[in-house]
Amino acid sequence: MQPIEEVSQDTMAFVVAPGGALRGRLRVPGDKSISHRAIILGALAEGITQITGFLEGEDTLATLQAFRDLGVSIEGPEGGRVKIHGVGLQGLRAPEEPLYLGNSGTSVRLLAGLFAGQSFDVILRGDESLSRRPMRRVCDPLARMGAFIETTAQGTPPLHIHGGQSLYGIEYAMPMASAQVKSSLLLAGLYASGRTCVVEPAPTRDHSERMLAGFGYPVEREGAKVCIQGGGTLHGTVVEIPADISSAAFFMVGAAIGKGSDVLLEHVGINPTRTGIIDILRRMGAEIEIKETGVVGGEPVAAIRVRASRLHGINIPEDLVPLAIDEFPALFIAAACAEGETVLAGAGELRVKESDRIQVMADGLQALGISAQPTADGIIIQGGELQGGEVHSHGDHRCAMAFAMASLVAKGPIIIRDCANVATSFPGFLELACGAGLAIRHGK
Ligand code: S3P
Repeated sequence: MQPIEEVSQDTMAFVVAPGGALRGRLRVPGDKSISHRAIILGALAEGITQITGFLEGEDTLATLQAFRDLGVSIEGPEGGRVKIHGVGLQGLRAPEEPLYLGNSGTSVRLLAGLFAGQSFDVILRGDESLSRRPMRRVCDPLARMGAFIETTAQGTPPLHIHGGQSLYGIEYAMPMASAQVKSSLLLAGLYASGRTCVVEPAPTRDHSERMLAGFGYPVEREGAKVCIQGGGTLHGTVVEIPADISSAAFFMVGAAIGKGSDVLLEHVGINPTRTGIIDILRRMGAEIEIKETGVVGGEPVAAIRVRASRLHGINIPEDLVPLAIDEFPALFIAAACAEGETVLAGAGELRVKESDRIQVMADGLQALGISAQPTADGIIIQGGELQGGEVHSHGDHRCAMAFAMASLVAKGPIIIRDCANVATSFPGFLELACGAGLAIRHGK
């Protein structure tokens, strides 16, 4: 028998042999942001909500479990299908224990807003990474609405949300472009007296606004401002969730850099607040075709074809940063393979994601022989020849998957440490990548 340490190391690391090409028609799992929101709104609605395409990843399953713990009856998930018996805005029950939300920042921030308006107390906890993430960005404006939420002295989870507070609507100008903060306040706004308005400094993903409308709840949008009136009703509905462009991003970058690659990513959500990856890769010279366009559940979808091409470095326009915020680990790999220099600025948010993505990616790229200079709010990458080597993902799913794609052009094998959290957003990544042509396996 293998010693336990070795067994656990086996499943934590990815070993990727160099070379290969990505080919074929691929469908990546359902959108993470939309999956969280479908569970939340489905639970709060009157009547039944039927979801298809739900992401069965650890993060969204944490949200699903939280609502079961609050007394909501949920069938599934089975093959991406979930049936929620909504309890209405006033129908949630006090959980018996603190809710554990694993690695999921979206769960804790959105639920903080929702639970601020309940009659009972809730404690939200998470893993080591989540326990380091800043929560004042939601707790401060929620306190202005009348919420009573305690954090650690550092403003991190666990959060103790005290029930029985009266919330009132405010107008809040967000200091950072954050869809999580916006959504948290809108959910609190469902319980507030009067109107809750959020003004964003730059457009961020608008899935909450679209889905609230889909559940029959009026949302007013005027330029950078979105407002909601408390005291309405959500009506159960059907939600069809498209494939996640943030998961497709790894294959888009892999296909762009891997010689001879040609992939078609099916039924991907191309909401304009999420398509920064397409714009940035195109500016770098990638050949990307958008086909088979349509709309499902109020969200635009398309098939995205990407073929290998010669990439060149660019200055990434700052207005594209919030529209590609989760795709930078993958984009840094593209930059490492591009001719010349790529400069990113205005992306300090990357330092407070599941890991400090600027540092983790810079360290990994340097270990693979690439000049990658972190700055306070970005990075400067000189394209070059990627070598094999060992890199550490620091438990960050997106860094792990990004480094895996680097192997397509690396001169030697890449060992990626600490990859278990890939399951938070992309169950089946290894199998899908392997089937598409990446020589990836679990290893030690
Ligand atoms: C998300 C918003 C983004 C993103 C996260 C998911 C969401 O975070 O990074 O992965 O579902 O609202 P911020 O809104 O904090 O930028």
